[in-house]
Amino acid sequence: MSMYMNIRSRLKGRDFITTRDFTREEIEFLIEYAFELKKLRTLGISYKPLKGRSIAMLFRKPSTRTRVSFQVAIHELGGTSFYLRPEEMQLARGEPIKDTARVLDRYVHGFVIRTFEQEEVVEFARYMNHPVINALTDLEHPCQVLADLMTIKEKKGRWEGLKMVYTGDVWNVAHSLIIEAPRFGMDLVLAVPKGYEPNEEIWRWGEQEARKRGTRLEITHDLREAVKGADIVYANTWWSMGKPETEKEKRAKDFRPFTVTPEIMSLAKPDAIFMHCLPAYRGNEMTEEVIEGRWSVVFDQAENRLHTEKAVLAAIIP
Ligand code: CP
Ligand code: NVA
Repeated sequence: MSMYMNIRSRLKGRDFITTRDFTREEIEFLIEYAFELKKLRTLGISYKPLKGRSIAMLFRKPSTRTRVSFQVAIHELGGTSFYLRPEEMQLARGEPIKDTARVLDRYVHGFVIRTFEQEEVVEFARYMNHPVINALTDLEHPCQVLADLMTIKEKKGRWEGLKMVYTGDVWNVAHSLIIEAPRFGMDLVLAVPKGYEPNEEIWRWGEQEARKRGTRLEITHDLREAVKGADIVYANTWWSMGKPETEKEKRAKDFRPFTVTPEIMSLAKPDAIFMHCLPAYRGNEMTEEVIEGRWSVVFDQAENRLHTEKAVLAAIIP
């Protein structure tokens, strides 16, 4: 308990841009906190640590889960959220981020941003004293991986010793899994076509954690081999937001042998679960039978976005 009190005081006022800025214990604390908040919601007990706080949200890419779950989370925690359409901001007319950030910082108690370059999030954070939360960049999806870890704990009761196989675009979600799976004691195998490589710095980070924790981190190009003995099969779109339209056809061809089918799932452990950050494209990264089948935990996973985001907000917003 006192360890948690300690962690709690360390988290106040921090940005949530990358989970690499947090220790494993701090991430674990956020997940435990999310379980508590989930319980309170189920019991109908209100908890309003954000009373009187305003949080601005700016999204440069589409979103269903992240945007709505943040808005509901802020509301349920007693705060108010403002959704800012980038094209309606003076940013669109060339007002610098450093000016926008300093102005927003005078009004709001936190800022949630989804954008392309991680550097834009870092730039906002540089000029804001209040916490900045990364709601997805090209590089990372830290809010997603928290919900993923929570879902794994909920379904499997542990992280240590599990084998996860990831297939899909080697982008934000894959990077966040590379950062967290090895340090949470899981083996992570990326089964993707040749030519789709993770960010080098993130890969090195994952490798270092894997060495430290004695876990496996690998890339293979054979999904059938990879899924043998898997506890978790995690799929993601082949074509992330912001990727050029011209790549769509090539990606569809390259990734075609990587569709997760019931037959692929049958090669994994009998109690294996199927995860997906959503949105999902049936017939591409998995078939209808898989996402709607007995393995699938995708809607519990999506629900856990709400609880983990509440934990992040309640922990870091001063
Ligand atoms: N998983 C996820 O971030 O979904 P949205 O793009 O709908 O927010
Ligand atoms: N990799 C996907 C994840 C969506 C939540 C994308 O960036 O589009």
